[in-house]
Amino acid sequence: MSTIDPKIQRLYERREQAKQGGGADRVEKQHKQGKLTARERIDLLLDSGSFRELDMFVTHRATDFGMEDKKYLGDSVVTGWGTIEGRLTYVFSQDFTVFGGSLSQVHAEKILKVMGLALKNGAPIIGLNDSGGARIQEGVVSLGGYADIFLQNTLASGVIPQISAIMGPCAGGAVYSPALTDFIFMVKNSSYMFVTGPDVVKTVTHEDVTLEELGGASVHNSKSGVAHFAADNEADCLYMIRKLLSYLPQNNMEDPLFLKTQDDPLRMEEALNSIVPDSPNKPYDIKEAIQLIVDDGQFFEVHEHFAMNIVVGFARLGGHSIGIVAQQPQVLAGVLDIDSSEKAARFIRFCDCFNVPIITFEDVPGFLPGIGQEHGGVIRSGAKLLYAYCETTVPKITVITRKAYGGAYCVMNSKHIRGDLNLAWPTAEIAVMGPDGAVNIIFRDDLRKAEDPVARKAELVAMYREKFANPYVAAEWGYIDDVIEPKETRPRLINALEMLQNKRDSNPPKKHGNIPL
Ligand code: HXC
Repeated sequence: MSTIDPKIQRLYERREQAKQGGGADRVEKQHKQGKLTARERIDLLLDSGSFRELDMFVTHRATDFGMEDKKYLGDSVVTGWGTIEGRLTYVFSQDFTVFGGSLSQVHAEKILKVMGLALKNGAPIIGLNDSGGARIQEGVVSLGGYADIFLQNTLASGVIPQISAIMGPCAGGAVYSPALTDFIFMVKNSSYMFVTGPDVVKTVTHEDVTLEELGGASVHNSKSGVAHFAADNEADCLYMIRKLLSYLPQNNMEDPLFLKTQDDPLRMEEALNSIVPDSPNKPYDIKEAIQLIVDDGQFFEVHEHFAMNIVVGFARLGGHSIGIVAQQPQVLAGVLDIDSSEKAARFIRFCDCFNVPIITFEDVPGFLPGIGQEHGGVIRSGAKLLYAYCETTVPKITVITRKAYGGAYCVMNSKHIRGDLNLAWPTAEIAVMGPDGAVNIIFRDDLRKAEDPVARKAELVAMYREKFANPYVAAEWGYIDDVIEPKETRPRLINALEMLQNKRDSNPPKKHGNIPL
């Protein structure tokens, strides 16, 4: 029987010790709360057996408050790299069983090291957050560590995809690292994010609020829009991250992955011909149309529960990854407002950073009127969306399915702001405003004098509709490149994407633009 060399034995023991994290009791507590440990999460996230760990033997350097006697190998975060569907991915996973996952100086250094590798080697970085925030015993050194991470997040922005999952507490300034990344996933009922917790809120504003009400997954997915995805549980969350990455390139110098599809690129979809109702005031579900058009009906929606009057997400067409921006006529008639403008602008800018072509499905009655919107800055928010579309240089295709009215016509990737191919269905209505509003203004006198104003108005509305509420005036000007039959949308879009595959466009050289934030 061979004996193990004591030096090797020591290595084994140290590795084993590091894997224990904060010890069996704390691991059990974590499990009892329905949470996985930092390493269990990494195992589920990455391809089996692909994880290679960094800094497993690092320990904190604090000496105050008896800390020198409380050291855990690896401290409170597990870092390293592995693969997802065979593609290199870097990861850090905070270990709540060690000092509540709090951020010590070495914890920050470990994260910075793995982020640095991700940035240099051009691969995504995924952060699994579960932390009590700054390591209280280390004071300002911990705050410095956060600030170093914020800087690195900012420098990596637009270079590599950065993805955050919140799988426990994320409070105070700690929220700003995830907030600087591209996408935030939260787990329902076990994760929360806030700048100041319920106790501080109570003291300052006298409001009573629970953790979940203040910063749980549902609040941040539906109200604040801080988070982009809400998962039912941790396994679901990690699976969704893998899925998201399948649509993205490794870095800003690469194109997204092409995935060959069995779905016929020439497939005609008869149902699309009748999806837009005859009445312009009747809603329909744009997601149904999207599913009929994209490969295998697979649409990976982003920000599903926030500003639902606009729909954004990833899909494939003929194997090419695409970003979709679409009005949802089922919610607020698909109107543009503060939240939907910001939601779409951010998504568009992400796609542009990472070479994902954008397809816009447009059915927009205009911007939402109201004091709340005006005072809330809808001008600034609408300008963000406009700016985002204008500066984008990836292939940009628009399909106007129904309404394209007023300023919203210009904003939603019109030809004038560098839309590469602008198509319309025969149901499209492209005009300064809807027939009702237009007739009230331009025929005010006529209507006042009419013997039967109701009948006269109906007559004028019909005349206006005949003249302007169709795609052909815009097509005569060349503002619409073609009017297509809805059923042929899939083949036409795939053909357009292939036509635009080698598109090169750029903006004037500058330090950076000044998007109206
Ligand atoms: C050091 C911490 C810690 C912290 C928790 N622990 N937070 N240690 N620094 N920030 C330790 C606890 O002492 C405990 O150690 C273990 O982690 C688990 O904590 P519990 O309180 O037992 O867990 P739980 O009941 O689940 O409560 C979790 C919690 C709570 C809500 C996160 O621990 C908490 O309120 N922590 C403090 C949060 C905080 O105020 N952080 C600073 C925020 S300001 P043992 O040994 O018993 O297992 C901030 C500024 C960042 O982060 C600014 C960046 C610019």
